[in-house]
Amino acid sequence: MDFSLTEEHLMIRDAARDFAQTELLPGVIERDDKQTFPQELVRKMGELGFMGIMVDPKYGGSGMDTISYVLIMEELSKIDASASVMVSVNNSLVCYGLEAYGTEEQKQKYLTKLATGEQIGAFCLSEPEAGSDATSQATTAIDKGDHYILNGTKNWITNGGRSDVYLVIAQTDREKGHRGINAFIVEKGMEGFDIGPKEDKLGIRGSDTHTLQFNDVKVPKENRIGEDGFGFKFAMKTLSGGRIGIAAQALGIASGAYELALKYSKERKAFGTEICNHQAIAFKLADMYTEIEAARMLVMRAAWDKDQGNNYDMSSAMAKLYASKVAMEQSVEAVQIHGGNGFVKEYHVERLMRDAKITQIYEGTSEIQKIVISRGVIKG
Ligand code: CAA
Repeated sequence: MDFSLTEEHLMIRDAARDFAQTELLPGVIERDDKQTFPQELVRKMGELGFMGIMVDPKYGGSGMDTISYVLIMEELSKIDASASVMVSVNNSLVCYGLEAYGTEEQKQKYLTKLATGEQIGAFCLSEPEAGSDATSQATTAIDKGDHYILNGTKNWITNGGRSDVYLVIAQTDREKGHRGINAFIVEKGMEGFDIGPKEDKLGIRGSDTHTLQFNDVKVPKENRIGEDGFGFKFAMKTLSGGRIGIAAQALGIASGAYELALKYSKERKAFGTEICNHQAIAFKLADMYTEIEAARMLVMRAAWDKDQGNNYDMSSAMAKLYASKVAMEQSVEAVQIHGGNGFVKEYHVERLMRDAKITQIYEGTSEIQKIVISRGVIKG
């Protein structure tokens, strides 16, 4: 067993840390406030190879491993979780989904642009009545021979307004249940595809979240991913990797909040000494650090499983369940350590606390992760 990172991993982590400090930190409060994320920063992340981290270089990707992916995700998330969710969805849901299950034509046409950040992508599974219960798809894709006709609504779609490529899950044959679901590549601008207004959110406010509407959208048959009826398994397999990305995001939010709290506790004085010298604060720091390191082990284990070719359904669910809990609890503690200053925007921890909550909800709520884990445990 070896817990150390390679020289290459350390360089990748440092590059992500530098980028987060120099490019993401300035303006992060304003972006959260105004709910914006500039295209210019997406372009820069593309140049650094952050938009196609694990994609084969022959499709324009960086060809890195999953450990590198979680290191990058952690560093970006310490500063700006709105930026990191954009990176996570593009990498582990869209690029991975296309690379693992797309045809060579689909990879050449779409993946090559998505992996460089020239274009970005969205993953469209959730619906008004199908969040956790993802097999209950109301969106339909009727087979018309050489094309499908898509109708329905998708909710809470990350990168919903600014994407060029949308992977859309829809029901083709209701009688077949989840085996009658397909996944399709839909392009922005296809006739009948409308993007609704942006959601006004509690956290990750810089990320671009929209409702999407499909009204008789004609999708060519060559845009279906995998065999007929593979769509639900496609979503499940892809989400297993996505959950590693969100677990790493949660780890970053937790460690970002912890680092700010530690620094503050060494500067702020009360009762004649720095507050870290009071056991009430020192014990909080001890608990935070321990919990965060435990979350890191689970996140790294899930990434390692994926890199080794092991099944990672359970390890990714455990990593997301635990890291998101740690992000929520420890970001609250970071606010507490900051006292009144923690409640104002310029100290950053209130934003991290708001951002933490979504990690317990998207890409499968904590309750859904417990379904996945408990089924795995019982099955053995
Ligand atoms: N890999 C491969 N196949 C899988 C699988 C996996 N990880 N998980 C399930 N399946 C297969 C099952 O084997 C089964 O197929 P067969 O009948 O052929 O064996 C089929 O899928 C149906 O599985 P279940 O019977 O387990 O289905 P279920 O209705 O009990 O639901 C669930 C399972 C795990 C609860 C699933 O519905 C789920 O994950 N729900 C949460 C959805 C979710 O994560 N949504 C996130 C939205 S995306 C997002 O948030 C992105 C963003 O923008 C940030």
